[in-house]
Amino acid sequence: MLITLEGIEGSGKTTQIDYIASYFQKFGLDYIITKEPGGTVIGEKIRSILLDPGNINIHPMTELLLYAADRVQHIKELINPMIESGKIVICDRFYDSTTVYQGFTRGIDISLIQQLNRLVLEGLAPDMTFILDLNPEIGLKRAWKQINDGSRSESETRFENEKLQFHESVRNGYLALARQEPDRFVVVDASMDPVKVGEKILEHLGRCLEKQK
Ligand code: TYD
Repeated sequence: MLITLEGIEGSGKTTQIDYIASYFQKFGLDYIITKEPGGTVIGEKIRSILLDPGNINIHPMTELLLYAADRVQHIKELINPMIESGKIVICDRFYDSTTVYQGFTRGIDISLIQQLNRLVLEGLAPDMTFILDLNPEIGLKRAWKQINDGSRSESETRFENEKLQFHESVRNGYLALARQEPDRFVVVDASMDPVKVGEKILEHLGRCLEKQK
């Protein structure tokens, strides 16, 4: 089983992943937590290129292909073997980030991204994807607060440096995806108290696990 979390910067994915992990622990379910970019040792190297705020000249196509390269390594080295061994994989961002950031927002042709996704994923798709929906003004404030207090790395702020308009486009992109695939996506209002957000997520997760029994 593959569960992914998506959302703009500062939408609280990390906190919610911790809630999900505690829930699985409580029920004795075997899981791993991973992320994109950077879920493998090779992926960490790719991540540092992608998120370095100094890399302002990175071409959108270079960006797209680096995310794809990170994902291939991640799927082959970690995600597929973990799923095959019966573990639940919780992944912080997955290919929907590419569709929304590189496609909707940077403007790369969506059909090209879908083609690349097919090549990279070889049929793999999340069973459930949570979108933590939040006004980007709030999300960016949260993210910068974490950067300034040192809980988020300053060397990974290339996307936080983007204009508000960029993050608004990301948010709208996610909402558009959710309308296209209502069975897979669960949109949760991330402006609520994190505990409330967690309750909503676990409610849906519980139902999904019931169905899989
Ligand atoms: P990260 O520090 O993990 O951000 P967050 O904590 O907000 O998840 O950085 C990942 C960044 O990479 C994030 O700004 C979104 C971007 N991204 C893409 O543009 N395309 C992708 O395919 C992925 C996986 C991430």
